[in-house]
Amino acid sequence: MRIVSGIQPTGNLHLGNYLGAIRNWVAMQDEWTAKGATCLYFLADLHAISMPHKPEELAANTREMVAALVSCGIDPDRSILFNQAQVPQHAELQWLLNGTARMGWLNRMTQWKDKAGKNREGASVALFTYPVLQAADVLLYNATHVPVGEDQKQHLELARDIAQKFNNDFCPEDAPLFIQPEPIIPPEAARIMSLREGTAKMSKSDPSDMSRINLTDDADTIMAKVKKAKTDPEPLPSEKAGLEGRAEAANLVGIYAVMAGTSVEVVLGQFGGQGFGAFKPALGDLLVEKLSPMAARYRELREDHAALDAILAKGAEKARALAVPTLDAAYKALGL
Ligand code: ADP
Ligand code: NA
Repeated sequence: MRIVSGIQPTGNLHLGNYLGAIRNWVAMQDEWTAKGATCLYFLADLHAISMPHKPEELAANTREMVAALVSCGIDPDRSILFNQAQVPQHAELQWLLNGTARMGWLNRMTQWKDKAGKNREGASVALFTYPVLQAADVLLYNATHVPVGEDQKQHLELARDIAQKFNNDFCPEDAPLFIQPEPIIPPEAARIMSLREGTAKMSKSDPSDMSRINLTDDADTIMAKVKKAKTDPEPLPSEKAGLEGRAEAANLVGIYAVMAGTSVEVVLGQFGGQGFGAFKPALGDLLVEKLSPMAARYRELREDHAALDAILAKGAEKARALAVPTLDAAYKALGL
C-alpha cells in the first residue's frame, strides 16, 4: 500500500493550517505506516507556478512548510517527504501523459473553469494541464490510495482515466503499467475562524496579527491573543444548539474541542453556564500546552536552512528511487 499526497507550500503557518491540514497528514502517517504502508508527502512547488508567484517567496515557503510539517510530527524517516522540483520525473511523466490525456477531459475540470474564470485566454497553460501533473504525481509511485477532499475528486477520477487509457493503448493486457489509485476520504478538517471576526477564516492574509495564532507564537502571545479574542457578553450555553448565531463563541469552543481531542458537547458540559472570563484562560492554557513543543521546534527548524535542505534532499533521493523505474517503463511503452 502506498499513499501519495501533496500540499501547496505556504509560509507564516497558523493554527488554521495546523488543524485544517497538517494534523491530518500526521494522523494519516501514523495510521497508515502502522499498517505497513509507505506515505509519500510532497510540497507541490511545481503546481505553484501555475498561478502568478514570486520566486523568492516560493523558495522560502517550501522551506517553511517543511519546517512546520516536521515540527508537527511528520517523520522524514518514516514518510518520504520531498518537493516536486527535486524529482524531475514528475514533470517528465506529465509530458508523457499529455499524449494520453484528452483536451475534452481537461476542459470539463471544474477547478480549471473556476480558477481561470472569464480570462481563459490569459490563464497559464500550466493551470490547464495541472490535473495531468497531479496524475503524474500519483501514478509515478504506483499510489494505491490518495486522500482527496470534495474539490479534488474529479482530478483523481481523471488520473484513473489516464492510467486506464495509457494501459489500454500502450501495455500488454496482462502487464498494465499504471495502478488506478483509490480515493481515501480524509477525516473532515476543522475550519478555524479569525479571532477578530467569527465569520472570517483564520488566514495569514488577514492584516491583523491578533486575528490568528501563529505556529511561531510564544506562550505569552498565545495567551494575550486568546484573551483579546472577540466574544459576546453571554455565558457559554450547555447545549450545542445554544452556539447558533454566536460565531465567535462557536469558534473558540470548536478550537478547544479539537485541541483537547474531544467533542463540542463535552466542552459545553464542562464550561456551560460560565463566562469567557473563565473559558478564555482555560483555552489559552490548553493551546499553550499543545502548541508549545511544536512551536519551539518550528521556530528553531525554520531558521536551520541546512537541516531543511538535507531533509528535502534525502526525501527526493528516496522518491527518485521509486519514480525512475516507472518513468523508464513509461518511455519504453511509448517507444521512446
Ligand atoms: P491561508 O488561508 O492562511 O493563506 P492557505 O490557503 O495557504 O492558508 O492554506 C494552506 C492549507 O491550510 C490548506 O490545506 C487550507 O485548507 C488550510 N487552512 C488554511 N486556513 C485554514 C483555516 N482557517 N481553517 C482550516 N484550515 C485552513
Ligand atoms: Na489562502
